Amino acid sequence: MKIKIWDLPTRLFHWLLVLCIAFLVFSGKTGNLFDWHQTAGIIVLALVLYRLVWGFFGSSTARFSDFFYSPSKVIAYAKTLFKRDSDRHVGHNPVGGLMVFAMLAVLLFQGVTGLFSTDEILVEGPLYELVDSDTADWLTGLHHSSSEILIPLVVLHILAIIFYRVYKKQNLVKPMITGDAEFPEAKQSEIKIVPAVYGVVLMVVCYLALYFGLPLLAA
Ligand code: HEM
Ligand code: HEM
Repeated sequence: MKIKIWDLPTRLFHWLLVLCIAFLVFSGKTGNLFDWHQTAGIIVLALVLYRLVWGFFGSSTARFSDFFYSPSKVIAYAKTLFKRDSDRHVGHNPVGGLMVFAMLAVLLFQGVTGLFSTDEILVEGPLYELVDSDTADWLTGLHHSSSEILIPLVVLHILAIIFYRVYKKQNLVKPMITGDAEFPEAKQSEIKIVPAVYGVVLMVVCYLALYFGLPLLAA
């Protein structure tokens, strides 16, 4: 039975995030197109902000409560990870869910420290003026360090997707593109999909709040 597991806003969030993070890591590490780093960074912060709200009010598979599992459930699932026929989850599995929380936390940290960072040439984060220069240097250092956590996390995330495809013969990417997946035992009526317009409007509102709010905060 083909059912919709990922709503449109969650998919939009994911692929916009991929584009922005690829650009941010490229521009951050090489210095190329660095004048756009701040814009892309604020888009990522807006996406994460949106995702935090969507995690409470979005479609059932996007809700944090749907993929927040007790440590014992995470361990129990982890033990079956190398079984080719381990349980398939409609939504994130317990280990995948943990990975999502980890990525969101690091992205939030990376984005917030970026707001106070400077390269002393082109970019000063919009909240740079709020702190003294020693604190700004410290936060810039943390912005560098957290990218050393973010990049391995993303690599692990992509390796996990490849592992599911090659070893467990499960294609997780297609549902993240089309929204649909085949689940013989699940019913569409068990999944609550919130109309996409709410998610898309929320995303735009989060961006506008940061775009207009951050300069006000710094003034
Ligand atoms: C969450 C999204 C973000 C990601 C993934 C990201 C990523 C990076 C990376 C990988 C670097 C290079 C670090 C290194 O060389 O080790 C960097 C540097 C930098 N980022 Fe971000 N960044 C983000 C958000 C922001 C934001 C919102 C700002 C605000 C303007 C910002 C400002 C800066 C600055 C000024 C530097 C250069 C620091 C220096 O030259 O010492 N970043 N960023
Ligand atoms: C910069 C790189 C990436 C970041 C930061 C990232 C981040 C994330 C996040 C936060 C989620 C959770 C989605 C949600 O519940 O809202 C997710 C899920 C997912 N990502 Fe990525 N991702 C990246 C790259 C990729 C790439 C390149 C692929 C495809 C090869 C991919 C495939 C997926 C899939 C299939 C899921 C759903 C997993 C599941 O079924 O539980 N991601 N990713």
